Amino acid sequence: MIPVITIDGPSGTGKGTIAARLAERLGWHTLDSGALYRVLGLAAERRGLALDDPDALATLAASLPLAFADDRLLLDGDDVTETIRTEQAGMSASRVAVHPPVRAALMDWQRQRAQPPGLVADGRDMGTVVFPRAPLKIFLDASPEVRANRRYKQLIEKGLDANLSRLIEDIRERDTADRARLAAPLCAAEDAVMVDSTALSINEVLDRVLEEVRR
Ligand code: CDP
Repeated sequence: MIPVITIDGPSGTGKGTIAARLAERLGWHTLDSGALYRVLGLAAERRGLALDDPDALATLAASLPLAFADDRLLLDGDDVTETIRTEQAGMSASRVAVHPPVRAALMDWQRQRAQPPGLVADGRDMGTVVFPRAPLKIFLDASPEVRANRRYKQLIEKGLDANLSRLIEDIRERDTADRARLAAPLCAAEDAVMVDSTALSINEVLDRVLEEVRR
């Protein structure tokens, strides 16, 4: 079986960064599952689809015109790597992600990413639903204020607009929606290792995760 390490947790805990660095250390592939939901939200908006129409969204998800070119993400041939990182895109992703048919349509696509020598997958339901038999599952958490602060710095670094109090509100709103939804609600798998990154730097979190990998 191809080894998979799952890293789940709420928005802004550094899952993506940790997953990327861990994969680099191990020489494994990565799956940023949130990017899929973000691209789907954007694709739906561009086509004028309602974000509360599960059937239309699932049809779109099943044939998403998505391509990877080096580290860029192309939707309909258009580079959307930065566009999908806005808070607006995060909210749209959260809205399309509530529908079970949408999640089902993206399932195979995600599982097919498990290729030798291994996969580091990050998201909300990697350990609970998509890769339930993964031998190592990490659940990363941190306080909403710290997470909003990190997101604020990332956006400013990229030269994007950011407002800290609005970000804290958005993060709380998205957490509530992700935890309360019926389809694959955000929660730790029973066998997940819990890591609270509130007082830890990215390097400290990575060291903590590597400790688990070596176990
Ligand atoms: O980067 P951030 O953690 O803020 O978000 P993301 O991982 O890019 O995911 C954006 C949204 O997609 C989340 O708020 C979830 O609602 C949804 N999502 C999901 O439902 N399942 C996943 N495996 C990944 C993301």
